[in-house]
Amino acid sequence: MKHYIKKILVFVGLRNPAKGLKITGERKVEILLSYKGKKNIFVETGTNRGDTIAAMKDSFREIYSIELDPTLYNQAVAMFASARNIHLYHGDSGEKIYEVMAEVKEPALIWLDAHGSPFNLDNSPVRQELDAVFSHPVKGHDVLIDDARHFTVRDIREIKRSARSHGYDFVMDEGVFRLTK
Ligand SMILES: C[S@@+](CC[C@H](N)C(=O)[O-])C[C@H]1O[C@@H](n2cnc3c(N)ncnc32)[C@H](O)[C@@H]1O
Repeated sequence: MKHYIKKILVFVGLRNPAKGLKITGERKVEILLSYKGKKNIFVETGTNRGDTIAAMKDSFREIYSIELDPTLYNQAVAMFASARNIHLYHGDSGEKIYEVMAEVKEPALIWLDAHGSPFNLDNSPVRQELDAVFSHPVKGHDVLIDDARHFTVRDIREIKRSARSHGYDFVMDEGVFRLTK
């Protein structure tokens, strides 16, 4: 599609501005660390191969991560077996996140990165994950959601509206949704 047509569609809200935008794992780590501030707790959904845990483990006191796939979960358990501050959970993050958040007693950096395929809001745990964060008694969590490029404009509107209605600022930059207080 011609560049200017894409720009017009983004401007009128008919195209996801992050469509086709993919950043490197290294850049994601930089973005996450830029939101660390004084936070000691890192919560991740979608452990996968544990790359982000490995990158965060020396910067946060406690790390929680949830993985649906049993093989990936077991691999991560073996990989971080000696790390007492890394807490791994097996299951659907839309449900397990409530268990994780029950352990969280101070503001955390929350990285929502669990998704299957095809990926959109209806086929991901993001709604439930956000509900768990928004209803949590501790305020001041920062929430970053990866892979903004996969969401529809309708999904984006819904996330933005929900974030704002819970007092969060909503920014979408470099393909990452950033919900901050
Ligand atoms: C993009 S990968 C995560 C990458 C990882 N966060 C990282 O930064 O290295 C997505 C992961 O989410 C997992 N997943 C998909 N749906 C899930 C769900 N409902 N609950 C938990 N994990 C899920 C997949 O099995 C996959 O490992």
